[in-house]
This record gives sequence, structure tokens and C-alpha cells, in this order.
Amino acid sequence: MAEIGKDIIKAKAILDAGELVGIPTETVYGLAGNALQADAVAKIFETKNRPSFDPLILHTSSLDKVYDFVLDVPEVLRELADAFWPGPLTLLLPRKSNVPDLVTSGLETVAVRIPSHPLTRSLLTSLDYPLAAPSANPFGYISPTQASHVNDQLGKKIQYILDGGLCEVGLESTIVGLEEGEVTVFRLGGLDLALIEHIVGPVQVMSHSSSNPKAPGLLKSHYAPSKPFILGDIEELVERYQQKGLDFAIMTFQQDLSHIAERNKIILSPRGDMKEAAKNLFSAMRILDSMDVSVILAELLPEEGLGKAINDRLRRAAVQE
Ligand code: TXA
Ligand code: MG
Repeated sequence: MAEIGKDIIKAKAILDAGELVGIPTETVYGLAGNALQADAVAKIFETKNRPSFDPLILHTSSLDKVYDFVLDVPEVLRELADAFWPGPLTLLLPRKSNVPDLVTSGLETVAVRIPSHPLTRSLLTSLDYPLAAPSANPFGYISPTQASHVNDQLGKKIQYILDGGLCEVGLESTIVGLEEGEVTVFRLGGLDLALIEHIVGPVQVMSHSSSNPKAPGLLKSHYAPSKPFILGDIEELVERYQQKGLDFAIMTFQQDLSHIAERNKIILSPRGDMKEAAKNLFSAMRILDSMDVSVILAELLPEEGLGKAINDRLRRAAVQE
């Protein structure tokens, strides 16, 4: 398995050698490699089993450095960068030719983010190249929100995981770009849409179709546990599955179904706090997936604030059924 620790110098040495390191961010853990070295980028795709048509996000430590690999930051996106970087925001920007084609899957834009996690910021500050880092999970599975999640699934394939504790946000970054001049959200995420609209006014949200070639992260089945994950009215679902005599576990937003045994349920936020629910979501899904039951029953959150991004993940986790 991988070594887990807080040694930035060690992480830098591995990255400098063209190898990969698991890194913490405030959103989810990333599987990082030198973004400007095509061999290191190829290792990321191979390690994650990720199709090469799905482009990666570049992570760096300052806006100055962003200009090393993008041609320009359009004014309206610059306002978002000023407001939310470092933080859970990814911008799609016109790329320079030093960014390998493999990073962008041949697109003319490159996805860029300045993460806020202190350990990873220090690491990025010490590097003279950006890090390409997708979420550190096998393609299509639930994103990792703690070092042990990364180790469980990719520990045999990488040497080192930088341990930054639990991810504060727990949902991947919100991806924003321009589409025919309009500010467009390509993936809902850890930065609430309302905060974005507060800065730049109403934005369009890319619909979640499985055939959108511009953002394969919008593939319908994604973030999925390996067990059937069923969404609906939780009380109705429980009744139906009890009648069927099937063993199940449940995940609710805040309600406690007192007739369900503690060991078979997870409440994301008993006090009904969306941020807390987002932070707990992916680890809850992993725990449920490892329980000795045959299905997972869950409910959507109110469609407001971060609830929109959480529901997006829940719907795509559920598509397989
Ligand atoms: O919070 C995050 O964004 C995490 C942490 C590690 O930073 N990273 C992450 O990366 O979620 P990944 O690879 O799992 O998701 C990146 C998404 C993909 O859905 C990809 O399709 C989209 O970003 N993407 C990357 N470049 C793009 C581009 N040029 N145009 C449209 N979508 C792009
Ligand atoms: Mg991912």
C-alpha cells in the first residue's frame, strides 16, 4: 500500500521524478502529476483507468502562475477568480501550447483551479510546474474525501499520499467557463451557484446529458457505488423493500427513521445543514457501499443552495439501477 504522511519535500521529490502523489484539497483528494510532462499525465489516466477523452484540471498556487499556461483570463471569469480563489472553483480558460493535448483531450480550453488546502498550497508553491489532478478514485466510482479512501483503491499503484485530513467541502469544484460569451456552469459543485450569481449575475447551467462531449464528468453514470443505489421518497422505499424482504441500508438528509437500526443508516446532517451534508456525502456512500446489505436507499435534498450539487451527484450515483 502507499505511504501516508505530511512530508511535502517527499511529495515534491516523487512529483519531480515524474511519478504520482495523492494530494488533499478542500473539495476531494486528487491524483496528482506534473501537468506539463505528458508521461506523468499518461500515468494519471492509466492509474485511474480513465478514458483519454475526459480532460484534467490543472492546479496551481497563484494567478500569476495561471498565466504561464493560459492565453488570457476573460474579464468576467477574472472577477470570479478574484472572488473565489483559492477555493472550490475551476475555470475553463484558453490554453497555451505548452499544455499537453492529453491534459485537455485536445480541447482549446484548459481547466484551472487554485485549491485552498494549506498543505497542497505549500506543495504547489514549491513546484515550478502545475499539477494535473483528477479525483483520486477509479473512473466512475465515488470521489475520496480522506487519505484512507485513496489508499483503499489506488494504494497499490502509487507510492505516497499527502495526508490533509478530511476534506472540508466534500464535493468536487464547480466548473465555470464561457459558452458563446455567456458564463456557464459545466459542473455543479462545492461552490454554491448563488455565490457565483451574486458576482456575475444569472448564469446558465449545462444540462446533464450523457452525450455532452465537452464535459465527460457530466456522464450520467458517475460517482457511483457498486451496490444498487435507489433514490425516492425514503419512507415509501423502506416500506417497499421491507415488503420484498430485502436487506437494505438507508441514507437520509436529516430525518431519523427510528424504526431502522443504527447500523443500517446514515443521516448526512441531523441539523439539516447543507454544508455538513456535502462534507459527509461521499464517505457516507462509501460506508453504505461496504455494508453487508444488497441495496442502498436514499433521498434527494431540497433543491436549493449546495443541495443542487449534492442532488446532481445522487442522481448520477443512482442511474445504474
Ligand atoms: O474539486 C475538483 O475539481 C477535484 C480536485 C482534485 O481538484 N478534481 C476533479 O477532477 O474533480 P476530475 O478529473 O475528477 O473532474 C474534472 C472534470 C471532468 O468532468 C472533466 O470533464 C472536466 O473537469 N473538464 C476538464 N477540462 C475541461 C475542459 N477543458 N472543458 C470542459 N470540461 C473539462
Ligand atoms: Mg472525478
